Amino acid sequence: MASIQILVGSVYGAAEQVAEIAAEKLRELGHQVTLNTYARAEDLVRDVDEILLLCHSNTGAGELPDNIEPIYLHITRDYPRIAGKRYGVINLADSSYNTFNEAGRMLDTAFADLGAVRIGEPLIIDACSGDNPATLTTDWVNDWAKLL
Ligand SMILES: Cc1cc2nc3c(=O)[nH]c(=O)nc-3n(C[C@H](O)[C@H](O)[C@H](O)COP(=O)(O)O)c2cc1C
Repeated sequence: MASIQILVGSVYGAAEQVAEIAAEKLRELGHQVTLNTYARAEDLVRDVDEILLLCHSNTGAGELPDNIEPIYLHITRDYPRIAGKRYGVINLADSSYNTFNEAGRMLDTAFADLGAVRIGEPLIIDACSGDNPATLTTDWVNDWAKLL
């Protein structure tokens, strides 16, 4: 069983809903999960064994939602010791924007640049695709959880 903290970044609630679906599925699979919608610097390192799941949307022109941006600023300015930290990525985006998932890639890169280790490939939920976010999330979590 893994301990997982989901760091949520959402403007209108879609990413928060996806985070709740992911949390429910992970708990069903026997993992311990906390949802954090206002993550701050200290939350990144509160438990050395904890796995982080970044679950956020894109906003503005390739920007992060306000409730997860402090994490990006902390990582890129303060260089916290997160080398070896394991994390996963779920991004909500929209391919009709020419800044498609730029914020998602930016945060992922910031983690990797400090030596954090991503588990699996990101789940990118494209609002334009017509796919059901709940189904995509449940299927992705099922596969992701096998890698923990
Ligand atoms: C004002 C606004 C700006 C957006 N900017 C981007 C963007 O730059 N890149 C992108 O891929 N998606 C963008 N999106 C799409 C959102 O990321 C997508 O609709 C997502 O599902 C919203 O999730 P949320 O409700 O959790 O914020 C934007 C959506 C809105 C409403």
